[in-house]
Amino acid sequence: MNDCCGLINRTLTTMSGRLSFRNITALAPMVRVGTLPMRLLALDYGADVVYCEELIDIKMVQCQRVVNELLDTVDFVAPDDRVMFRTCEREKDRVVFQMGTADPDRALTVAKLVEHDVAAIDVNMGCPKEYSTKGGMGAALLSDPDKIESILRKLVGGVNKPVTCKIRILPSLEDTISLVKRIEKTGVAAIGVHGRFKEERPRHPVHCDYIQAVAKAVSVPVIANGGSLDLVKTYADIEEFRKASGASSVMLARAAMWNPSVFSPKGLLPVETVMEEYLKYAIRYDNHAFNTKYCLCQMLRDKVETPQGKLVQAAQTNAEFRFMRGFIEEQQAKRNALQSHCLQDRPIMDGDVLTMAVKFERREYPPQITPKMFLLEWSRKEKLEQPSYETVQRTQDRAFQSTVTVAEKKYRSSLWEKSKKFAEQAAAIVCLRVLGIPEGRIGEEDSGLVCKRKREMKGINGSDEEGSKKRHLVDGQEEIKTTKTESVTNGDCHTQNSEQTKS
Ligand SMILES: Cc1cc2nc3c(=O)[nH]c(=O)nc-3n(C[C@H](O)[C@H](O)[C@H](O)COP(=O)(O)O)c2cc1C
Repeated sequence: MNDCCGLINRTLTTMSGRLSFRNITALAPMVRVGTLPMRLLALDYGADVVYCEELIDIKMVQCQRVVNELLDTVDFVAPDDRVMFRTCEREKDRVVFQMGTADPDRALTVAKLVEHDVAAIDVNMGCPKEYSTKGGMGAALLSDPDKIESILRKLVGGVNKPVTCKIRILPSLEDTISLVKRIEKTGVAAIGVHGRFKEERPRHPVHCDYIQAVAKAVSVPVIANGGSLDLVKTYADIEEFRKASGASSVMLARAAMWNPSVFSPKGLLPVETVMEEYLKYAIRYDNHAFNTKYCLCQMLRDKVETPQGKLVQAAQTNAEFRFMRGFIEEQQAKRNALQSHCLQDRPIMDGDVLTMAVKFERREYPPQITPKMFLLEWSRKEKLEQPSYETVQRTQDRAFQSTVTVAEKKYRSSLWEKSKKFAEQAAAIVCLRVLGIPEGRIGEEDSGLVCKRKREMKGINGSDEEGSKKRHLVDGQEEIKTTKTESVTNGDCHTQNSEQTKS
């Protein structure tokens, strides 16, 4: 696969087409660091596989999968609209989704939610932080091998992607080996081994002898971890760490966080260059500014107190990383151009449907007037069949989109609406605008329909007391007989309405 830096990522699939963990170099999972921009950058520089930051199962089960058409990403969005996990096509066959879990059923639910957008699922069994261990997750699992087994078996049996886990070593080598043998039997595709005890901090030397013994004891690929700082500073060191640990593969956290070009066989790039590349992805993928700042500060390390570092620290939004202003402005101009292209008033053909980005704003029309009504009147006047509406509802946010057919031509708004009624009105607006027909908006040149409608209503209803019924009749397109057929295509619930107005 070619990437933006002209590097080549190797083909890494097994015979069955799954991601292989043999002889790979990976970006290790890192909270706050392993978001989409860092993962893409690591891939660009030469990492074979990239882990996302640990995401907790309880939060993930509440997420909805949303296709973000503007950014070209797939987002997993929490009920409070926070994007918990954002991914894209470029990393689909390389990204490992790491979760924090202590519950086999919940773990499976989350794995099933993300499995079609990622290359593998990993369970974190090494995090020693209290927020993880107090819920029985992370390193707490190391003292509950039955739980480990049930989580891994459930995942291996329940998803169609490779399942891996990342552990720390246990106080005795025998216990560590017996644990990894038990893990191997669950059918995992690889075991990541951080060569430190639960109580040890990153400054402690990594126990390569433990990793070596584990790698010898099992036939499943072992991914050695813990070599940053002491052992791995450059690309050449990765190979040394692989040899020293006797493992099939290597996973880097801090060395990659400080400078992801450590994955590049061409050698380390200046950190400023890397920061610039990182920022391109951060802006391109609308990364959270605080997360961007965190990563840039990690890359700056001891330069964080320099004037450049202070600018980074002071920034509150991606756009405020001023030392790259020219680039940012260029990116924003591109984004704006894209947005205005999407929102422009010119119709665009989407297959056989004419589309425009149009929203129905109720307040833009007089109380008894709707675009649908205008379209119906116009069709009658032209002796055409009355407009027919077909509405689909997408599953991820339950939004609606309608297509209206008039004189055998189809019209649709590219924007989704909260209700079916509004979606139909938006489709009617597109049709009216494309055909150059008045749509009844306040301030629009009078087409005569508004006055005619008012007169008709007076005739029907007689008095003002009937106002609410009158409004109901008009808004509801008089009496509507609806025949409904439902089918499910690509996860979307398609609702076809053929509406007939009794006149
Ligand atoms: C900022 C940061 C965040 C981390 N977050 C995670 C995480 O989400 N999941 C995990 O399994 N390990 C996490 N770790 C641990 C690393 O994956 C790795 O095991 C550890 O840093 C040792 O590897 P290294 O020597 O290459 O840094 C994190 C480490 C750092 C520095």
